[in-house]
Amino acid sequence: MTLADRKILLIVAGGIAAYKSLELVRRLRERGATVRAVLTRAGAEFVTPLSLGALSGDKVYQSLFDLTDEAEMGHIELSRDADLLVVAPATADLLAKMAGGHADDLASTVLLATDKTVLVAPAMNVRMWEHAATRRNVAALAADGIAFVGPNAGDMACGEFGPGRMAEPAEIVAAIAALLAPAGQALAGRHVLVTSGPTHEPIDPVRYIANRSSGRQGHAIAAAAAAAGARVTLISGPVTIPDPAGVTTIHVETAREMLAAAEAALPADIAICAAAVADWHVVGAGAEKIKKDASGTVPAFELAENPDILATLSRHPGARPRLVVGFAAETSKVVERATAKLARKGCDLVVANDVSPASGVMGGADNTVHLVFPGHVEDWPKMGKTDVARRLVARIAELIEERDS
Ligand code: CTP
Repeated sequence: MTLADRKILLIVAGGIAAYKSLELVRRLRERGATVRAVLTRAGAEFVTPLSLGALSGDKVYQSLFDLTDEAEMGHIELSRDADLLVVAPATADLLAKMAGGHADDLASTVLLATDKTVLVAPAMNVRMWEHAATRRNVAALAADGIAFVGPNAGDMACGEFGPGRMAEPAEIVAAIAALLAPAGQALAGRHVLVTSGPTHEPIDPVRYIANRSSGRQGHAIAAAAAAAGARVTLISGPVTIPDPAGVTTIHVETAREMLAAAEAALPADIAICAAAVADWHVVGAGAEKIKKDASGTVPAFELAENPDILATLSRHPGARPRLVVGFAAETSKVVERATAKLARKGCDLVVANDVSPASGVMGGADNTVHLVFPGHVEDWPKMGKTDVARRLVARIAELIEERDS
């Protein structure tokens, strides 16, 4: 996806992850963005102004009291001249300053003076990330409209394990693209197939087996893919939300109908299986309503397994979409089970979410997802289902472009 003519002000704070920011600058410039960098005093302990300046092709701004800078470009202009401010890595200290509205160095002053969207990529020790103070600061910043990417869970430079690793440069680029170009054309010319909603499996003509899926996440993904220029076929189970604009929506009831519609819609470049497909259907569901038995005998239903749409598309003999994305709805061991699902279903990426009753995901407006790839996991913060959809579409556009090149 192109970021031509977009201006990014990158603030590099002091963390071991600062080395990844050099790669971030390179990737942003490859996509045509102009990058201007602010390096904090601690940041300069990890990367040199020379390497940052060489990669950004511009002067690196370090001091609030550098008179030359003020003459050439004041800190207000520095913060407003950009289309987007990106803080990567964002340390616990800088997040605290941002949450408190401090302005005691160039980075915090620029962040306070800006009227532009700010994206932060936190990076810190897991205990610092989980500390109540950081939790408060992150919640306050999210409420102020600051966008987050990461941190991810994994082995940390300090020897511990858990969330705190800075998001990978490719993820940060995707988040930037989603924020800057929500209506961009990152998927122009692609055919995207999306399944969404629950399925209804009839017991008899008036009763069925269903689940609590609202279809909001899948429908939001279809809408975001269409906004990104894709031709979208949405195969929707029974939902109460409207068909997204600019999308071809096919309505189905059962898992078997959903599979038939999905196969009929092939070929597709990308398949995103967000539907909560019922695992079983009732064998011999007939045309007659089942009546209560006068003797009080309770009916017994024989269930048979439904076809797996995601696995069928992933292993399609002639028309496998180049990118197949599944969802994993789990109530515990979310990432572990999603990793197993990725292998079992043969897809390229599983978007795992916690659907335990406490999470409020099923039927709710928010979602906390983990992107499970073979070999690594990207943890995204809690956000609205529309934001998940936009970010996911941007990430998918990035992945399909990588496959093309
Ligand atoms: N899926 C599908 N067809 C099915 C079942 C699931 O396409 N018959 C897809 C869903 O759309 C989702 C992924 O598979 O992308 C995982 O769905 P989930 O319900 O979490 O997994 P299950 O296969 O039902 O596995 P389990 O019952 O072990 O959780």
